[in-house]
Amino acid sequence: METVLSGIRPTGHLHLGNYFGAVKSFVKMQEEYNCYFFIADWHSLTTCPDPEDIRQSVKTILAEYLACGIDPEKATLYVQSDVRETLELYLYFNMNIYLGELERVTTFKEKARKQPNNVNAGLLTYPTLMAADILQHRAKWVPVGKDQEQNMEMARKCARRFNNIYHVEIFPEPQNFYFSDKAVKIPGLDGSGKMGKSDGNCIYLCDDDKVIRKKVMKALTDNGPQTPNSEKPEIIENLFTFLQICSSKEAYDYFNEQWNNCTIRYGELKKQIADDLCNTVAPIRERILEFSANQDLLEKISRHGAEKARESAAATLKEVRQIIGFNPNER
Ligand code: TRP
Repeated sequence: METVLSGIRPTGHLHLGNYFGAVKSFVKMQEEYNCYFFIADWHSLTTCPDPEDIRQSVKTILAEYLACGIDPEKATLYVQSDVRETLELYLYFNMNIYLGELERVTTFKEKARKQPNNVNAGLLTYPTLMAADILQHRAKWVPVGKDQEQNMEMARKCARRFNNIYHVEIFPEPQNFYFSDKAVKIPGLDGSGKMGKSDGNCIYLCDDDKVIRKKVMKALTDNGPQTPNSEKPEIIENLFTFLQICSSKEAYDYFNEQWNNCTIRYGELKKQIADDLCNTVAPIRERILEFSANQDLLEKISRHGAEKARESAAATLKEVRQIIGFNPNER
C-alpha cells in the first residue's frame, strides 16, 4: 500500500473549502492508502501563537477531522509534537540544506515581509521541518495546493541530498498528489476567490443553520443577466458552484435555465443554497459537538495515533542514525 501524508496547521475551524477541497477525499483515500494525517502544531509556532489558542485549535481540528469521517483505525491521525523523532530528522536535514536554498523559498520571503519584526529561524527552516514530517514515514504522496509546491520541491531535495551524500536509497522523493484536474475549487462568499482567504468569506463545518443562512443571504450578487444565455460573472458562477457541490442536479438545472432565460431570482437561489448547505453541514456539525464533548476519547485517539506514527518514524530514524555514523549500541 502506498503511503500518503497530509499536514494541517491548527488555525481555527475547518471550513467548506477544507472539506470539499481535501478532507472529503482523505476519507476515501484512507481505504486505499496507508494514510498519515497530522496537525502541524510545531509549524504554527513561527507566528508565536497564544498557548491556549494552540491547545484549543489542536482539539478542534482533531474533533472536526473525526467528524468528517477520518477513521483512526484506518488512518494514522496524530499531533506533530507527539512524535519527537521528527525533530531529529529535521536537525539532520538542516545540516544538508544551504542557507541560500532556504532564503530563496517564496513563502519565506512573503512571511518575512509580513512579519518583519519576527523573521525567526523557524520561518527559514519551515521547509526542512516539513521534509522531516514527510520523509520520516517515507511517504510517496502529499496532497498539497499551489502554495506548497516549493516546500515539496525542498522535501524532494532533502531526500535526494541525503541519499546522495551517504550513497543510500533510504528516502523516496515524495510527489504532489492532485485530487483531480476537475476538482471543484470552493469559492469564498465575498467574491474574493477561494474560501479561506479571509475569515469573512468562510462557512465553517461548525456553523449552525442560522449562521449559514445569514452568510449565504449576504453573498454578493449583481443586477441579473441582461441577455439570454450570457456568460456568468464570477460572483454568480460562485453561487452555482455551491449548487453543484451540495444541491441536486435538478436544482442546478432549474436555476441554470432561469439564468439563461433571464428570469432568475437571486433570493430564491440563495434560499436553495442555504437549505442544501445546512443539510450538508448539519450532520457533520452534530458529530463535531459529540467529539468535542468527549475529551477523553480525543485524548485516547491522539495517543493511539502518536504511537502508530512514532513506530513508523522510529524505524526510519534507526536506519538514518546508522547511515550517518551514530551507532550508540556499538560503542
Ligand atoms: N505547510 C503546510 C500548510 O501550511 C502544513 C504542513 C506542515 C504540511 N507539514 C506538512 C503539509 C507536511 C503537507 C506535508 O498548509
